[in-house]
Amino acid sequence: MRFIDTLSGKRSDPPPIWIMRQAGRYLPEYKAIRQTEPDFISFCLNPDKACEVTIQPITRYQFDASIIFSDILLIPWAMKRNVRFIDGVGPKLDILSSFKDIEIFADKDLSNKYKAVGNAVKLTRQTLPAKTALIGFSGAPWTLMTYLFEGGSSRDFSNTKSFLWQKPGEAIEIIKILTEKVAEFLIVQAKQGVNVLMLFDSWAGAVPAKWRDEMIYKPHQRLLEILQRKNIDLPFISFPKGIGEGLINYANEVAINCIAIDQNTDPLWANCALPSNIAIQGNLDPLCLVTGGQQMKDEISRIIDCFADRPHIFNLGHGVVPQTPPEHIQDLIDFIRTKAG
Ligand code: CP3
Repeated sequence: MRFIDTLSGKRSDPPPIWIMRQAGRYLPEYKAIRQTEPDFISFCLNPDKACEVTIQPITRYQFDASIIFSDILLIPWAMKRNVRFIDGVGPKLDILSSFKDIEIFADKDLSNKYKAVGNAVKLTRQTLPAKTALIGFSGAPWTLMTYLFEGGSSRDFSNTKSFLWQKPGEAIEIIKILTEKVAEFLIVQAKQGVNVLMLFDSWAGAVPAKWRDEMIYKPHQRLLEILQRKNIDLPFISFPKGIGEGLINYANEVAINCIAIDQNTDPLWANCALPSNIAIQGNLDPLCLVTGGQQMKDEISRIIDCFADRPHIFNLGHGVVPQTPPEHIQDLIDFIRTKAG
């Protein structure tokens, strides 16, 4: 698989391509099947449907990788935090405010809650073309902590950050417990056949710089060590979104194969600042993809040229947005594959 070669440090031209949230509401075939299962969690936990929507973007675009259809909020769901998805609002959870509410999960293995995800992985791996990599994923401890403390998405993360400043010792303990929960979720997916693991720290940018070590770098490295101890030896992509110059320490302290960068990170800077043996994934602005045309082609060329001398996986800087015209993704792929081919 070209995708795995790139993660192992081998450049390939043109770069392998996939896009974050590639199975989703911008695709009419996704919306059609999504309607058949009104509850989003039940949809994620239906292996046949999860397999089908995972493969939809591969059938349409022949991406180099697919990502198993599931969600980072399955861990809070397994912790019985009353996770629901409200149309036009987004995810809602019961707000967690005390250490006690989470401490009870320290000694509880939640792996058996993810059997349906494991089955979806197995089925998808059997169905995908051999050349297409299958990515398993989880939310990172800090990002999961924000959903638990805010009860959903947030603009300022005030509950989580206030807790961190007021009770740093407990916040560190919570992150430790969540790191174990993330490991359980990833191990289920690894055992059923994913080829790559990815960690989404979508709200890492909300961590005050002083706390990056405790909330991001150390727990991510600890997660890798837990996986290693369990003999899980898969390439690992991490997306510590929004940490800017923190990426330098990240790359030094966390033994990942690939770092995903958001669209606000200058690719020229990232290429110079990050060790050359680490692959970089990214980083077209999702709204540039919505715009399309020459503007998009120029930006794609700029990104690819920045990473001309290192392993690079082409992706967006964050998830594809629902208003994206599907034909712009075809234009993106045709442009990249003919440009270098
Ligand atoms: O192709 C894929 O990437 C599909 C698998 C996938 C989903 N969510 C499905 C999904 C992945 C990798 C995720 C990750 C995820 N989920 C993240 C990290 C990535 C990021 O975007 O930062 C986060 C923060 C979540 C939490 C989440 N799930 C939110 C905030 C929402 C609502 C916002 C929205 O886009 O509607 C979801 C729901 C969700 N997860 C949808 C999909 C396709 C849309 C819901 C629907 O179809 O009704």
